[in-house]
Amino acid sequence: MILAIETSCDDTCAAVVTRDGEIRSNVVSSQGVHARFGGVVPEWASRHHLELVNLVVDQAMEGSDWDDVEAVAVTQGPGLVGALLIGVATAKGLAASRRLPLIPVNHLQGHVAANFLGGFEPPFLCLVASGGHTFLARVTDHAGYETLGQTLDDAAGEAFDKGARLLGLGYPGGPALSKLALEGDPTAFKFPTAAKVAGYDFSFAGLKTALLYKVRELGDDAQRLKADLAASYEHAIVEALILRITRALEHEADPRIAIGGGVAANRLLRERAQSLGVPVHVPPHALCTDNAAMIASAARYLEPTPYPDYLALDAYATKRA
Ligand code: KG4
Ligand code: ZN
Repeated sequence: MILAIETSCDDTCAAVVTRDGEIRSNVVSSQGVHARFGGVVPEWASRHHLELVNLVVDQAMEGSDWDDVEAVAVTQGPGLVGALLIGVATAKGLAASRRLPLIPVNHLQGHVAANFLGGFEPPFLCLVASGGHTFLARVTDHAGYETLGQTLDDAAGEAFDKGARLLGLGYPGGPALSKLALEGDPTAFKFPTAAKVAGYDFSFAGLKTALLYKVRELGDDAQRLKADLAASYEHAIVEALILRITRALEHEADPRIAIGGGVAANRLLRERAQSLGVPVHVPPHALCTDNAAMIASAARYLEPTPYPDYLALDAYATKRA
């Protein structure tokens, strides 16, 4: 079994997963404290991880025996570096005290590997869209992937959150905006999908600005037309995501898609993906949002670092190739 820890953002996560991908536990403790600030406060996130991480690990280990744990896996990056460091230090401590190997995992590889837990095997195209990242990858084996494109500015979830904030819908805004969109007309307003950005890269900054200008232009009418604004805005985000997927699908001999990250919960995105006429895999919601089971899943295919070689291991904040 592998015990994995994930603390790259505001969720404190630990999971126990067997070598063949059976999830024994998958514990996520979300920090509700950030909602009133309308976003994650990094220093608060670190402090909460410190308070929660041992409890979360104990809970994940309930019913499992340490003697059966063959390695400790941990998210090394990218993410909030202070938050990551809590996970890395905890994982090192747990592994070193038992002379176990450590498996450092890239968070983005984790999102990709969430699909392997559902038995969805490479090759496939994988869209990961969350509050922190948005990228399209070609997955040809279990231990890596080729990044086809990524966002040049905001993540798709961030675009949902910022749009929701402009419409006065609270944080995180994706679910609220999506709910309001059900009552609106997606063709009422035309928002940009950055179609001119060639290839597979995404850009959502222009979209957010377009919504801001439209709300200002409408003045008092914006409130009355809120559902139409939400529906049109959601439509633009989803079409922007779908556009890059369809561009990439054209070059696939065996076209299949997986979708992960918090935005995979979006009803319209799922519907649109399912209408493309190729097999689509969306992991259960708990494996789409940040969790440690996906980190353990990725770790199964990576080389463990033996004790004590990992003691100097550091976290990294930014994306690595
Ligand atoms: O993966 P996740 O839980 O956390 C990050 O790593 O960011 O993703 C959270 C993001 C938020 O931006 C949230 O607004 C968005 O996913 N989200 C949605 C929906 N549910 C969550 N966006 C659109 N529609 C939804 N139903
Ligand atoms: Zn994530």
